[in-house]
Amino acid sequence: MSGKTLALRDTTIGKKAIMAVTGVIMVGFVTAHMIGNLQAYSGREVFNAYAAFLHGLPGPLWAARLVLLGSVIAHAWAAISLVRQNRAARPVRYQVKQTLATTYAAKVMPLGGLILLFFIVYHLLHFTTGHVAPGEFRGWQDAYHNFVTGFQVPAIAGVYVVANIFLGLHLYHGVWSMLQTLGINHPRYNHWRKRAAIGLAVVVAGGNISFPIAVLAGVIK
Ligand code: HEM
Repeated sequence: MSGKTLALRDTTIGKKAIMAVTGVIMVGFVTAHMIGNLQAYSGREVFNAYAAFLHGLPGPLWAARLVLLGSVIAHAWAAISLVRQNRAARPVRYQVKQTLATTYAAKVMPLGGLILLFFIVYHLLHFTTGHVAPGEFRGWQDAYHNFVTGFQVPAIAGVYVVANIFLGLHLYHGVWSMLQTLGINHPRYNHWRKRAAIGLAVVVAGGNISFPIAVLAGVIK
């Protein structure tokens, strides 16, 4: 036996812990982001004041950006590494595949994660840098204008709706697994765990989907 010790990040449980901890951080962000964006329902002034408030705190803003970037990278690394490890453990695929305690949401996790990664890059180029914003981009100083003119384009609204359906599925299975990794796995609590995962996914994805729809319907204009 070699004297090399195994770092926690090299073990299955270590990787799952990395996914759970970075998952908690990102769940916190998407929830806060959706709640913050609800201010669009209060009109231009309130929404732009909220954007100005966030940009008026450059220190915390950059700290949050770095933590989020690190979380996305660590989460994706651990996910890829776990998938590879599982494949290596069973190089010959099952001849008969039996679907046990797994759901549609669980099966689309890798694809969903990849789609969300592409969506995040697109979203930053749309609202943060303005590179792919349709028409005039006014920066965070008039984030409300960017919000409304963006979602008035049905194809863009469609991209956000589809991306958020994947976000909902990812959150549902992700929160469920995360609570399991964090130790909430008992027949007595599993029912509660499923409800919490569904509730969070529906609230966050549903809130986000309401924005493009509200703009297309003329509720936010
Ligand atoms: C319909 C849903 C969404 C709307 C309306 C929305 C809106 C916005 C807006 C207006 C900004 C720019 C803020 C500013 O520069 O002042 C922004 C930034 C951002 N959004 Fe979203 N967002 C949505 C969904 C999402 C989702 C689902 C994610 C992640 C999966 C996400 C991640 C981000 C990130 C990382 C930033 C960059 C924050 C920064 O400036 O550092 N957004 N969003």
